[in-house]
Amino acid sequence: MNGFDSSTQKVPACGDVPRHVAIIMDGNGRWAKRRFLPRIAGHKRGVEAVRRTVTACAESGVEFLTLFAFSSENWRRPAEEVSFLMQLFAVALEQEVAKLHENGIRLRVVGDLSPFEPRLVRLIQAGERQTADNRGLTLTVAANYGGRWDIVQAMNRMIAAHPEKAGQYSEQDLAPWLAMNHAPEPDLFIRTGGEQRISNFLLWQLAYTELHFTDTLWPDFDAKALAAAMDSYRRRERRFGRTSEQLTASTVPPPAVSEAAGS
Ligand code: FPP
Repeated sequence: MNGFDSSTQKVPACGDVPRHVAIIMDGNGRWAKRRFLPRIAGHKRGVEAVRRTVTACAESGVEFLTLFAFSSENWRRPAEEVSFLMQLFAVALEQEVAKLHENGIRLRVVGDLSPFEPRLVRLIQAGERQTADNRGLTLTVAANYGGRWDIVQAMNRMIAAHPEKAGQYSEQDLAPWLAMNHAPEPDLFIRTGGEQRISNFLLWQLAYTELHFTDTLWPDFDAKALAAAMDSYRRRERRFGRTSEQLTASTVPPPAVSEAAGS
């Protein structure tokens, strides 16, 4: 158990500011192509957008920010691009972890790290260790992550730990083994770059997340684009399976005691 409510088991408390924002950072390649630059130039500019977004989220009171940096399916890209993305991630870790730490940000990386070079794994582990006790924003980077991979790895670990429960596992049994167990389910999902799909991101956790799609390309994403997503989020009615009337009724204050007694 992680102390966070499961949206399918209990209606979580929701405020005006999303507690957890999860982002698919799409559009780096197109940003570069429009400028007749190589795709990798778009990824480089994407790191600047990551920096801006981390700052804007921390300033807005977001507690958890999760970024999809590299999917299990991104290995299908040209080898040079994959290798560049790995390099970029390593350089970003080398250059940014100290700044994250100074700002009280806790870094977590989720995904299957086994195919990564040992140097990159060491940087990830060192960054996580250094920032582990920070109490500010939790920044989770999903690297070689896939929603299906996560569910399967969680299931395998759960069964290995509790073989005696075969045939009777529940949602609550599986949840602690998922890679995102350190965070509540996302309130707001943002995908930049104009496509409207989930692309095997947090399949389990997005069950009741509000989805926001924007044409803004990731390297152009900034505090204003984040504010627009948050405005859209604030206008949503989060029903979690209930009716709109139930929600209205639950926000109307109960009648005063004398009135209720019929006097
Ligand atoms: C998608 O754009 C972007 C990626 C697959 C890589 C995202 C990586 C970064 C922003 C930099 C590294 C991240 C961190 C956390 C340091 P795309 O290439 O699919 O763009 P396209 O759809 O326009 O081709």
